[in-house]
Amino acid sequence: MTVALQIQNLSRHFNDLVAVDNISFEIRQGEIFGLLGPNGAGKTTTLSMLATMLEPTSGSATVNGIDIRKDPDGVRKSIGIVFQDQSLDEELTAWENMDFHGRLYRIPKATRNRRITELLTLVELNDRRDDIVKTFSGGMRRRLEIARGLLHYPAVLFLDEPTLGLDPQTRNHLWQYIATLAQDNGITIILTTHYMEEADRLCDRIAIIDHGRIIAIDTPKNLKDGLGGDLVTIGSPEPAAVAAALREPWVARVETHNDNVVVSLKNADRHVSSIVTLLNTLQIPITSITIHKPTLEDVFLSFTGKTIREEEAGIKEQMRMHQKMLRH
Ligand SMILES: Nc1ncnc2c1ncn2[C@@H]1O[C@H](COP(=O)(O)OP(=O)(O)OP(=O)(O)O)[C@@H](O)[C@H]1O
Ligand SMILES: [Mg+2]
Repeated sequence: MTVALQIQNLSRHFNDLVAVDNISFEIRQGEIFGLLGPNGAGKTTTLSMLATMLEPTSGSATVNGIDIRKDPDGVRKSIGIVFQDQSLDEELTAWENMDFHGRLYRIPKATRNRRITELLTLVELNDRRDDIVKTFSGGMRRRLEIARGLLHYPAVLFLDEPTLGLDPQTRNHLWQYIATLAQDNGITIILTTHYMEEADRLCDRIAIIDHGRIIAIDTPKNLKDGLGGDLVTIGSPEPAAVAAALREPWVARVETHNDNVVVSLKNADRHVSSIVTLLNTLQIPITSITIHKPTLEDVFLSFTGKTIREEEAGIKEQMRMHQKMLRH
């Protein structure tokens, strides 16, 4: 296994705020690695440090064996970056945007021309190469940005929220390009996302990040399997009684979230009727019962006690309070 990125005790503070809190992990060459977490979790900050756009407060990292603090220029030459706010030149054509980037990296003209055609074809934009970017849809721009990020043969590609705001079809399409890049070209990809499905379907491994800390890191499958089977969610006005009743040897885990009790067990469909019978016998009222296969949302919930959406709503609420305070 060749290690592409090695991250050791990396932290970043903004005054009193610890945006990234002492994270350590490795990414191997050709891997698609996802940082999954809610708004404000520290995903972009992590990526920015690794891409040498932001200085760490402490800790270290190497990208392609190059130290991000000792040789940031060396790192920059070997990576491609597609960030949220890094924009294309709207007035230029797709080709011109690519060509400009290629000149910046001093790629010789003949190579540049060949490579631009190759990449525009890869992202299915070659027939639109002479149109100005202003006329492109969101998905087309994103594809062009990815093509541009690949122009100088980077060994590692950084993608910050690559499919944010795109429709499901375009998102699916982009996942295919990204998967091809890793599989066929051995490019290592590190991306951030707060879409559970994106992390699940696209990434070989993910780190779930919350409040700057890595709370879990593994393949999506292992993370989901770690919950111990299917999930049965039982709604009840007496969740504590339900939870107590279900602490049985055949139940792998019992968790209570608000008015819902979530239990994990293997082959849940075969156990649902006995759960209902048991609760009926004990005269514990239930309002609903559902079974589903675990998702990464469940993994997040299990580790943090919150859903990603609740977490984001909480941050939005804090921001509203803060703005209110500033106004008064
Ligand atoms: N330049 C900065 N100055 C001060 N605070 C910052 C700065 N950049 C980020 N932060 C703070 O650091 C924390 C992590 O931010 P970051 O942008 O890394 O989150 P994120 O996980 O990328 O979130 P999102 O999903 O919204 O993109 C947030 O609390 C943010 O407000
Ligand atoms: Mg971000």
